[in-house]
Amino acid sequence: MVGRRLKAGDRHRLYEAAVQTPEVEVELLGRAYQERFGAPALSLREDFCGTALLAKTWVESDDDRIAWGIDLDPEVLAYGRRHHIGPLDEDESDRIELRAADARTRSERTFDVITAGNFSWALFDDDALGEYLTSAHDCLEDRGLLALEIFGGADLRRPLVHEHPKDGFDYLWEQVSYDEETRRLEASIHFRLADGTMVRDAFRYSFEVRDWNETRALVTAAGFSVVELWVERDGGGFARKSEEPAAAAWSGYVMAFTR
Ligand SMILES: C[S@@+](CC[C@H](N)C(=O)[O-])C[C@H]1O[C@@H](n2cnc3c(N)ncnc32)[C@H](O)[C@@H]1O
Repeated sequence: MVGRRLKAGDRHRLYEAAVQTPEVEVELLGRAYQERFGAPALSLREDFCGTALLAKTWVESDDDRIAWGIDLDPEVLAYGRRHHIGPLDEDESDRIELRAADARTRSERTFDVITAGNFSWALFDDDALGEYLTSAHDCLEDRGLLALEIFGGADLRRPLVHEHPKDGFDYLWEQVSYDEETRRLEASIHFRLADGTMVRDAFRYSFEVRDWNETRALVTAAGFSVVELWVERDGGGFARKSEEPAAAAWSGYVMAFTR
């Protein structure tokens, strides 16, 4: 798939193929909003958007949908503009905007849905997360949904390496260390290419691991009226849970509604 000499954007392409399923997320966010408010979600802000694959898929999914993507890193946004926004037709590209900014910055318009994928919001410590959640609440419409992808379970609190074979490469998720006092998890993504070449530390993260009750308390304190945990089922789909699952590893979404 990717030759021995990696080009600048290849790690982004590998990341998307390894961990992103934007069609599934577009369907999920639209359904969660529709079920709660009885109306279609039209505007989306994708925070920590990286290449903005979800924002791009959102505008493609419906002619009335618009999306913004927000990321601190101009390099990853440039990749998104080149590979995802450039190929869109004029109508679609007029309905999407990418901004280099901190996700805590208030945007000058409001949205039906704001989402943060792949645990990105857990990069923040409690103070920063509180600021983010309050700002996101202010940037939602009166009927708004904040959807935070969440991972949990005891396995998230120990070093490990998981290898996942993908189409033409292997994706390796390494939890390098976990500090019980600070609750910081240091993690790294590596790729093994078809010719055996290792792309080590293609991405590195430092996450703060919270349990569901703490997360729910922070989200509620930011002003959200209804805060639900939607846990991914083994065979696909999501189930609402009132408690954190006992499983060693689980994933899902925090669905926080303004009302
Ligand atoms: C885990 S990636 C998420 C990529 C993609 N959205 C996904 O769901 O897989 C995290 C991204 O967050 C960005 N980021 C980190 N801190 C940020 C902040 N305070 N505000 C906005 N973006 C930030 C990084 O530049 C990186 O592109």
